[in-house]
Amino acid sequence: MRKPLVIGNWKMNGSRRFIAQWSEATQGLDRCATAEVVVCPPSVYLGEMAPLADAMGFGLGAQSVSEYEGGAYTGEIGAEMLVEVGCRYALVGHSERRTLFGVDDSRAAKQFSAALRVGLTPVLCVGENAAQREAGETWSVLRGQLAAAGLIGAGEVSAQMRVVVVAYEPIWAIGTGNAATPADVQTVHGQIRRELGAGGAQVRILYGGSVTAENAAELMAQPDIDGVLIGGASLRAAEFVAICELAAMS
Ligand code: PGA
Repeated sequence: MRKPLVIGNWKMNGSRRFIAQWSEATQGLDRCATAEVVVCPPSVYLGEMAPLADAMGFGLGAQSVSEYEGGAYTGEIGAEMLVEVGCRYALVGHSERRTLFGVDDSRAAKQFSAALRVGLTPVLCVGENAAQREAGETWSVLRGQLAAAGLIGAGEVSAQMRVVVVAYEPIWAIGTGNAATPADVQTVHGQIRRELGAGGAQVRILYGGSVTAENAAELMAQPDIDGVLIGGASLRAAEFVAICELAAMS
């Protein structure tokens, strides 16, 4: 049984004032215990959000993680540091990291392993852009991204790998208000799960890209959509709580 998972990705948004208002307005999160809720604020706020997360019953995630363990890597944040400040999850290979900050499959794979090594659950983000979709290349793009991280193509998913999370986020759907249809997402998720092999039955596969309180229920009703990764709507406290409640009922 895969517990529904909702991850809110604040991207480069938020402030101390925003955190105070958001946490006041998300008190209802404690009604969502049958789902798991994770919030990924900008990393400078992780430390101060840790007590809030504990008190309110949600987990913390980082938006990225370094592939390096430590040393002369200006600007990087290591997996162990993230664990120390209370993170349990880290997004890896988000499309904004890939397209704007030069993270390719090989770096994403290293970051994925760096997280796993210290018990930080990596959330591997995969997805095709509009041109790739039009050219019918969706699956070959996803296969490459999943294979680089060692999730498919290397035989059975190992026991250690079964804790990881995959987030399918078609780039054309992110921040556009144009979410993929539940049926299309189910087709992609079903294929990902088949390729993961028998161990894949335990891997949670999330959908991300313009998820709102309006479309979340129908998405999460699909058998292979185990939750959602939310950007914009995670900043709107009432809507975020509403989506977590839908996940708890899914
Ligand atoms: P969005 O972002 O919900 O604003 O489309 C999703 C994401 O980038 O993770």
